[in-house]
Amino acid sequence: MAMRCLLLLAASLVAGSCRHHGEARPLVPAVMLFGDSLLDTGNNDYIDTVAKANFPPYGRDFEDHIATGRFCNGKILSDFIGEILGFTSSPYAYLSPDASGENLLSGANFASAASGYYDQTAHMYNVIPLSQQLEYFKEYQHKLEVLAGSSQAQSIISDSLYIISAGSNDYLFNYYIKPFIYKSPDQFSDLLIGIFNNTVAELYGMGARRIGVFSLPSFGCAPLTITVFGHGGNDTCVTRLNNDAQRFNRKLSTSVDVMSNWYHDLKIVVLDLYTPLHSLVTSPRSQGFTEARRGCCGTGTVEATVFLCNPISIGTCPNATVYVFWDSIHPTEAANKLIADSLIDGINLLVM
Ligand SMILES: *[C@@H]1O[C@H](CO)[C@@H](O)[C@H](O)[C@H]1NC(C)=O
Ligand SMILES: *[C@@H]1O[C@H](CO)[C@@H](O)[C@H](O)[C@H]1NC(C)=O
Ligand SMILES: *[C@@H]1O[C@H](CO)[C@@H](O)[C@H](O)[C@H]1NC(C)=O
Repeated sequence: MAMRCLLLLAASLVAGSCRHHGEARPLVPAVMLFGDSLLDTGNNDYIDTVAKANFPPYGRDFEDHIATGRFCNGKILSDFIGEILGFTSSPYAYLSPDASGENLLSGANFASAASGYYDQTAHMYNVIPLSQQLEYFKEYQHKLEVLAGSSQAQSIISDSLYIISAGSNDYLFNYYIKPFIYKSPDQFSDLLIGIFNNTVAELYGMGARRIGVFSLPSFGCAPLTITVFGHGGNDTCVTRLNNDAQRFNRKLSTSVDVMSNWYHDLKIVVLDLYTPLHSLVTSPRSQGFTEARRGCCGTGTVEATVFLCNPISIGTCPNATVYVFWDSIHPTEAANKLIADSLIDGINLLVM
């Protein structure tokens, strides 16, 4: 049964609800999301931080035009991953009042925009550090046990899909701002990989058996980084930054390979964001996009969050569907959809 659904999924790229006696059944019981703004569906709405997206024009292209805290005009990767797995939506942000009762049975989202692997990055922006996200996951597990009973809770925990998205903010909003703390990008990547290693060990210890970790995206191609680190603003991407991302990604892959041999009952896969984003930026037209250099919101070169992408931003584009970037760092819903589709093979390996 599961196999057939997966093949259908791979063949058609259609959202993977698997019809079982006429009833749509997701491929896993639940999804748990950790990390940063690529996954955060609104946890930062409930904390005191500047890293928020709960005001227009964020959320502009949802049917009800409500800004939920997603750093996007519409759906983000968590939403599309939920759909790929056959859920009608993504699990609720853990700090939201909706993350309670029966809703917890299909998972929870612990991610917090502006967070990273390194807790200090999160502290700089007063968001939820990864270590605290793991604490919340422990608390979640207790709630799940009460709700579902301990054996059912255990099977939800071990069959669920876990997704981690972190690292971009550690580079962009910590390392590149005060690089003097670390001797080299290489040493900084080791620091982050060490934390990633511990995170996987902790999740495994808490029962996780299917973990997908996002690679770093090609963050040297974001409008913000080109504006700040590019030469004269005409570069397609900032090579130095992309090289750092690739260096990290190589280490991440090595680490994941070693771990998947080490933990015999753990499925762990790197979900590559670098390639699909790079491809969107370097050949947008063949994929239905006309603007890859500027974000839709405001002038699109520096705007992100309340400082610059806000209801009175001047120059916000009327139609984001042809833009790769929504603000100066986050992809549009249209780009997120394509990126999510490119992750399907990796997700299949995890849910098989
Ligand atoms: C991370 O874990 C992998 C696999 O055990 C190991 O090969 C690698 O050296 C570790 N890296 C760091 C920085 O701890
Ligand atoms: C960037 O491109 C614009 C328009 O193509 C051009 O006028 C400008 O001179 C270029 N700047 C640099 C630094 O190359
Ligand atoms: C935006 O553009 C797309 C493609 O050109 C079109 O299908 C869509 O209807 C437009 N949306 C709005 C709100 O104008």
